[in-house]
Amino acid sequence: MNSSKWYLNSVFYQIYPQSFQDSNGDGIGDLEGIIYRLDYLKSLGIDAIWLNPIYPSPFKDAGYDVADYKNIAPRYGDLNTFDRLIKEAHKRGIKVLMDLVFNHTSNEHPWFKQSQKMERNRYSKWYVWCSPFEPINLGTGSWAMWVSERYESYYHQFTFYQPDLNFGFPNLAREDGNSYDDPDLKALREELKGVVRFWLDRGVDGFRADAMEALVIEAGKKGIHGNTARFWSEIRQVIDSYKDKAFIAEGFHHTEDIARCKFNGCFFIPQTWRLLAPDPPQRKREPSPVKFFSPQGGDLTWFVEEYLKEYKEAIEQDAIINMISGSHDMPRMSWICQKDEIIKAYFAMLLTYPTAPFIYYGDEIGMQYWVNLPSREGASFRTGSRTPMQWNGKKNAGFSSAESSRLYFPVNKDYPVRNVEIQESSPTSILNTVKGLIKLRKENPSSGAFGNIRHLHLKKGDKSYIYSRYGQGDAFLIALNPSDTSRKIRLKLTGEEEEFKGAKYLVPEISSQKVPKIAVEKEISLWLPSNFFAVYRIS
Ligand code: GLC
Ligand code: CA
Repeated sequence: MNSSKWYLNSVFYQIYPQSFQDSNGDGIGDLEGIIYRLDYLKSLGIDAIWLNPIYPSPFKDAGYDVADYKNIAPRYGDLNTFDRLIKEAHKRGIKVLMDLVFNHTSNEHPWFKQSQKMERNRYSKWYVWCSPFEPINLGTGSWAMWVSERYESYYHQFTFYQPDLNFGFPNLAREDGNSYDDPDLKALREELKGVVRFWLDRGVDGFRADAMEALVIEAGKKGIHGNTARFWSEIRQVIDSYKDKAFIAEGFHHTEDIARCKFNGCFFIPQTWRLLAPDPPQRKREPSPVKFFSPQGGDLTWFVEEYLKEYKEAIEQDAIINMISGSHDMPRMSWICQKDEIIKAYFAMLLTYPTAPFIYYGDEIGMQYWVNLPSREGASFRTGSRTPMQWNGKKNAGFSSAESSRLYFPVNKDYPVRNVEIQESSPTSILNTVKGLIKLRKENPSSGAFGNIRHLHLKKGDKSYIYSRYGQGDAFLIALNPSDTSRKIRLKLTGEEEEFKGAKYLVPEISSQKVPKIAVEKEISLWLPSNFFAVYRIS
């Protein structure tokens, strides 16, 4: 474990560029807008930003359909603006991560246009092709039939507009060769490495790897495919030839796999989804179980167990698990939490937990999920989490000077009462709570990625959770009771707990309601009002 690596112990902020800040009045966010808001990000206290894809694209999946890996979509700016963004961010001590979308390209990418041609060329094997008469069932994804010039169908795991690149699909043995070591496939990988170098040379601080486990699918096989791991390890080598760069995976897998692929971090997505989001009504599934961070309250033991298991394995491998407040792919947490006080309780956990957390833009002011907002650019049920950032109570919430009807997405209707400006001036707002928690995390190492954690109160079916963080010169007790029911919890100490040695008081540092300081004795009585969190210093 090497805790000196910045990305293992940073607070990240995810920017969905379409919706953050429009600088030229065309109704869509852009890089110049992000530069304009860097001071805000600095004031929040975050260490790094991750940008969703900003490459040229026909935007059939909001930019996750890349048409040119080495340029900037004109709607966001150009390479000069990008270079300035890097420079301005670095000036403020903020690092910048880009999205690497390598599982697929856009069907308008010049490589694909060549690949689908009848006559064989350099690109013919770069995508996954098979005979339309015997499409192979890979158990996931689909084959686009009858649409190419060559007499074959192409494989796409996501939309029809996103043909998969070929990293050696073993089920698709072809006479003309299709193995990982095939020279044409090697050429593709060299090209992709060139993409990584291109951005690192411009000064980016690392990447978030999109859909990392999707690269190679073999029918009947689960988990990360060997070829997928080989490819990511090759990319890691390129990244390692630069100094101190982050490589974080989006995936739905376990720590073992992160290690095989040589990532430094991995989002904890399925669990965060179960924790913070209902199944959207558009996806008719079983009703979700009651959630811990909701007025009804619910069980948290499963999350804590699964999280800490992965966390422990990860740090042994010089990696971290990234907890998130949300993302562009899931409904916003405000939908489950329902109350601002409960949102604060989640942030209290996120920002005092052993993780390198990601905050999704707008969650820090509790932006709402807009149910059934019409979809655009392939957003579908994700649309409602992608509305413009609410900066102030002025036109379009300060996001854009365009006519409201020309905005990329409409501004949520609550913007006059829910925006950055209002929350900056209210000491108890979600925004100021988040700022306070980030500051505490920065100033007290035990509350960050590598401090010890002990559960003081964690029970199946219980609606509250109390834990301590300690061991690096400071110690804290964090009490969470998001539910609508207040409760009194008695903690019995054995006298062996390191964090309580010589301690006299629990002194409240940040809490959702004013609470008194508490004397530390063999038995501590904690009163947890409803919708509550408190961070106490053990001193
Ligand atoms: C990832 C992205 C998602 C995108 C998909 C295909 O899951 O987060 O937004 O649709 O990959 O690229
Ligand atoms: Ca714009």
